[in-house]
Amino acid sequence: MLELRNVSKWFGGLPALQDVSFRIAPGQVTALIGPNGAGKSTLINCISGVDRVQAGSVLLARRPVEALPAFKIAALGVARTFQNLKLFSRLTVLDNVLTGLTVAAERSFAVSMMRLPALRHQERQLRLRALKALDDFGLAKKAHWPASSLSYGEKKRVEMARAFVSDPRLVLLDEPVAGLNTEETAQIARHIRRQRSAGHTMLLVEHDMELVMEVADQVVVLDSGRCIASGKPEAVRSNPLVLEAYLGRMEATA
Ligand SMILES: Nc1ncnc2c1ncn2[C@@H]1O[C@H](COP(=O)(O)OP(=O)(O)O)[C@@H](O)[C@H]1O
Ligand SMILES: [Mg+2]
Repeated sequence: MLELRNVSKWFGGLPALQDVSFRIAPGQVTALIGPNGAGKSTLINCISGVDRVQAGSVLLARRPVEALPAFKIAALGVARTFQNLKLFSRLTVLDNVLTGLTVAAERSFAVSMMRLPALRHQERQLRLRALKALDDFGLAKKAHWPASSLSYGEKKRVEMARAFVSDPRLVLLDEPVAGLNTEETAQIARHIRRQRSAGHTMLLVEHDMELVMEVADQVVVLDSGRCIASGKPEAVRSNPLVLEAYLGRMEATA
């Protein structure tokens, strides 16, 4: 589904990603772990077209996409959430989720222009899909609330609903449980497990090793922009390089 080949990215001469290569098979969940500043969010930005890679390539279903703008990559079926929430605070929860469907809406826009009833029908269909996605994330009751009135945990779930509503081929989740309490974390973990059983391909940036071990088919470890290990969760967990570079440092800062 996704292949990164020697992806590199610098910010003002400082390397954020160096020669990162790995693959994600369809239907698999890959966890991307590593200490703060390792380059995880940068990598997600590079895959979704928010940032440009400066070397290497990003292939989506074997097609190079690293030169495409973000909206085209989204139209190819890549959806994401943001580490720092990016919701439209003045729109309702439902309208925020509908923005995740604009790609699908535009596809038949020309046709709809010719036939108004078809347009109305399509609009209804899109709203139904958005409501269904909100229901999946336990937010149907708050569909008409302004997004700004929701709690932090609920906002995180709105972002998840917006990411999954278009039935994307690949979903990039950047720290979906960061800042959540135990109960909210368990709730999001349930959603991730459910999306995994539904066959969604995901790249998940996550610090909670328990969750990673449980849901990931593959773990990729970044440290200072380099991929220092990748493989099955159990193998990565006992990799001495990872223990030293990641877990050791995490414990030291805990
Ligand atoms: N827009 C930016 N401009 C300059 N430096 C950046 C920018 N985004 C990220 N960085 C730097 O790139 C490195 C990787 O950051 P990031 O991808 O956010 O790490 P992570 O998500 O793993 O915590 C850090 O050193 C960070 O300071
Ligand atoms: Mg980050």
